[in-house]
Amino acid sequence: MTIIAPSILSADFGHLADEIKKVTDAGAEYIHIDVMDGSFVPEITIGAGVVKALRPTSKATFDVHLMVEHPETQIKSFADAGADIITFHVEATNHAHRVIQQIHSLGCKAGVALNPGTSLSAIEELIEFADLALVMTVNPGYGGQKFIESQLGKIHMLYHMIEELEAECDIEVDGGINAETSVDVREAGANILVAGSAIYGAPDIAQAIKDIRGKEIVHHHHDEEE
Ligand code: DX5
Ligand code: ZN
Repeated sequence: MTIIAPSILSADFGHLADEIKKVTDAGAEYIHIDVMDGSFVPEITIGAGVVKALRPTSKATFDVHLMVEHPETQIKSFADAGADIITFHVEATNHAHRVIQQIHSLGCKAGVALNPGTSLSAIEELIEFADLALVMTVNPGYGGQKFIESQLGKIHMLYHMIEELEAECDIEVDGGINAETSVDVREAGANILVAGSAIYGAPDIAQAIKDIRGKEIVHHHHDEEE
């Protein structure tokens, strides 16, 4: 089943609780929260205090995407604030395996994220420990950028890597996802789709979510007879 995770980066920051309700009422399962530190990426966005204030307003899964240097220094604040999933960039720490353990020890699910320029091998040793792998399909930092097609091969390879390891690891994609690019990423194996501008910028949010979710895709194993 495909999970839709609207990114509140494209929402009205003056009315975040209402903006979250709007997309969950329209069928979204997760709320994707983009945390930027002005160092790993140029802008500064949302801190743990905002997540804590939003937590009592929604039952949705809070999917926190940390685009920050030294993520290990931030995990506890976001876990305490009520994050359900905490995803960090492998480019931002020398101790990714330990960060996963830290996230789990605080009762959250752990995700590992890859920039478009980072090879899949950077997370090969982490897949069996992580709950999700996030493949960035734009360079992190801004909403509304163009989908980078070359990441489709990475998603596909990741799908098979997870299968081979018999790991329980979701594949999330983030950046430039809309009704068209959604088809390709779902075919490649992604099951959690982040979308900011394509959802919050749509005239009909429920329709946009439905279009991005699309029709269910059945993946065939290589050793299965068709
Ligand atoms: C990019 C963020 C994304 C962003 C996606 O740095 O991680 O979550 O909000 O926005 P769209 O869907 O507009 O590309
Ligand atoms: Zn994101």
